Amino acid sequence: MGSDHVDIDWEHAREANRANWDDRVPIHEGAYGVEAFADPDHRSDVVRDDLPALTPWLPGGSLAGLDVCHLQCHIGTDTVSLAREGARVTGVDFSRPALASAAALAERLGLEVTWVETDVLDARASVPGDFDVVYTSIGTICWLADLDRWAAQVAALLRPGGVFYIRDGHPALYALDEDAAELVTRYRYFPDGTAQEWDDPGTYVGEGTVAHPRTYEWPHPLSEIVNALLGAGLRIRRLDEGRTLPWRFSQRMEPTGDGSWAWPEDERDRLPTTYTIVATHD
Ligand SMILES: C[S@@+](CC[C@H](N)C(=O)[O-])C[C@H]1O[C@@H](n2cnc3c(N)ncnc32)[C@H](O)[C@@H]1O
Repeated sequence: MGSDHVDIDWEHAREANRANWDDRVPIHEGAYGVEAFADPDHRSDVVRDDLPALTPWLPGGSLAGLDVCHLQCHIGTDTVSLAREGARVTGVDFSRPALASAAALAERLGLEVTWVETDVLDARASVPGDFDVVYTSIGTICWLADLDRWAAQVAALLRPGGVFYIRDGHPALYALDEDAAELVTRYRYFPDGTAQEWDDPGTYVGEGTVAHPRTYEWPHPLSEIVNALLGAGLRIRRLDEGRTLPWRFSQRMEPTGDGSWAWPEDERDRLPTTYTIVATHD
């Protein structure tokens, strides 16, 4: 697969992305393992992996009783996992079918969650209340053109003393050629204001194709992410980099046995696959 770099306005790109995400919902409903939530102790792999890094920063040392805003919640598997930790959760996404699927899942599990349909870049104006924790993880800001605007939403959603948490694919990973037989770069690391235009009828998990295959993504270097959060007034407390991923970025990646993927053993120390940032709002 490859992508072209195009000049495109945000609203047009966002609508293309939204149509694509709407189409992915039925495929993901069958592939995200939602049936495992029948076990009340089950948590999504993403939340399971995030909790050890997030928990030490929480007032009281757990999510229990906290107000959590989950940005880009998709079909709600991470959102209900946060709710199962005892949080009062608001799930935010721009895809109506994703939120409908998420709401149905929460209802089946007997969990109360608030759902808000909005562009995350307009989240402050659309989401009622303020929060102890703003959480977003895996497959998030690559879909957003303007990180300063995103970081401003995060800061405005947090109460004083609140905690922001993100883990996502590392921008260095996104520069790599997913089809190559070795670690070589193919895409830009540094942005030039253009979007990457993709045409892919498939999705990262499950069988099936989408009716709207065109999407737009934006490269965001680590420095841009950090500076956007600092610029919004947040205090960065941790920045970590990981060696595994909860999705198979390249066919060369190998399962690690716990639902994650990694480069072959002898390549794992060469480049990060993820970054994690914990920030607080004074
Ligand atoms: C990879 S998923 C979310 C990650 C989550 N870890 C998961 O796998 O369930 C990305 C989500 O971002 C949402 N999204 C993309 N662009 C958005 C935007 N501008 N505003 C709100 N949601 C957006 C999509 O609808 C999708 O549900």
